Amino acid sequence: MRLTSLLSILARRARVVLALGGLALLTGCNFNFWRMDGHQSTIDVNGPVARSQLGVFYATCWVTFVIFVLVAGVLAYATLKFRARSEADEHAEPPEQGHGNPLIELGLIGASVLALVIIAVPTLKSIGYTYDVPAEDKANAYEVNASGYQWWFKFEYPNEQIKDTGPLVTANELVIPAGRPVRINLRGMDVIHSFWVPKLAGKVDMIPNRGNFLWLKADAPGYFWGQCAEYCGDSHAVMRFRVIALGPKEFNDWLNQQMAPARAVASANEPKAEFASYRSDWKRNERGWSDQFDLNPFEAWRAQQFPDAKHEDAALIEKGKHRFQEKTCYTCHNVRGHSVDVMIGGKMQNVPFLGSPAYPNLTHVGARTTIAAGVLENNPEQLARWISHPDQVKPGNKMYVTGYIPNNIKLTPDDVSALVAYLHSLK
Ligand code: CUA
Repeated sequence: MRLTSLLSILARRARVVLALGGLALLTGCNFNFWRMDGHQSTIDVNGPVARSQLGVFYATCWVTFVIFVLVAGVLAYATLKFRARSEADEHAEPPEQGHGNPLIELGLIGASVLALVIIAVPTLKSIGYTYDVPAEDKANAYEVNASGYQWWFKFEYPNEQIKDTGPLVTANELVIPAGRPVRINLRGMDVIHSFWVPKLAGKVDMIPNRGNFLWLKADAPGYFWGQCAEYCGDSHAVMRFRVIALGPKEFNDWLNQQMAPARAVASANEPKAEFASYRSDWKRNERGWSDQFDLNPFEAWRAQQFPDAKHEDAALIEKGKHRFQEKTCYTCHNVRGHSVDVMIGGKMQNVPFLGSPAYPNLTHVGARTTIAAGVLENNPEQLARWISHPDQVKPGNKMYVTGYIPNNIKLTPDDVSALVAYLHSLK
């Protein structure tokens, strides 16, 4: 008797521990469990394409829920009804065994087919809807090209042509008009990547030598998290991006600002977060917390659009601009409109920062909230870390594996702070 009561106490304790453990697991999640509203939630949707995809998910859930209730119900019924009630029952001969029942078997096949048909209807509807911009909305659609590189995203605006240059180009932060369908042409430039903005749409593969596309629409202005969703090498997990949706006027202002050449002078110098957060449960003052960024990424992005003239050091920026040439950064990265005069072969020559289309365009890099494809917050401390030790942030990235940094290019702390000041002046 004593032993059984001890066992029952232990069993009760174990249940409490299990329940608390489960609770800890749930509350440890990076979002509000009941609202499922994490940065990359596919449940908390913000546009018609993601909403349609969510509809398919729910349809599947309901069908499987009904199957679960039926199967579990029959199982529970049989378990209770045919349980052994007495000592004699336990030793009784098993009842006569059945060997197949054509009616039940055919019925189950029919029920499975019916369940699949019920799932197929919304699935096919959603495939049709999410494939391309609806006909009645086509005229209103905005077009963007997105290219996946190891490990960053390039975004081009074919409708915004810059004289003598080509389309407007940016990297890792895709700014779109809110409330308007956006058609995105997808390309992989080296290996297969995949484009995914969980709250808006996706995923669609970005394949080399094969044009793919998707469309999406943001219901309202906002800041959305994106992620490469196809394993693409060392730094796949940190190949991220952002989508910023703006109202018509703000979007136009942004376009105008981006169409302009790089600014000729720089920004604040407060050290901030470690990684640009995917978490939404930061506590203030926790290591990695950033007042400006984590409190309200969208407002942080807006603030980032304007130079902080008070903290700019024109001389340091000018020095950084020259380092950008001397350290040959300009051979890969474009800063449209910028150049420096250098003595080459005894003659003064003007060297424009043309870069290559295969590397991130830095013309307005100071106006982005993140760098290194959405991994680091774009503040002086993180930018300095990125250009001095790119390998620590993105293993295998080209700046590092080609031996560029730190072998060919040695950057002193002075060089780094000048380069940071210069890059942050590029709004
Ligand atoms: Cu690009 Cu994974």
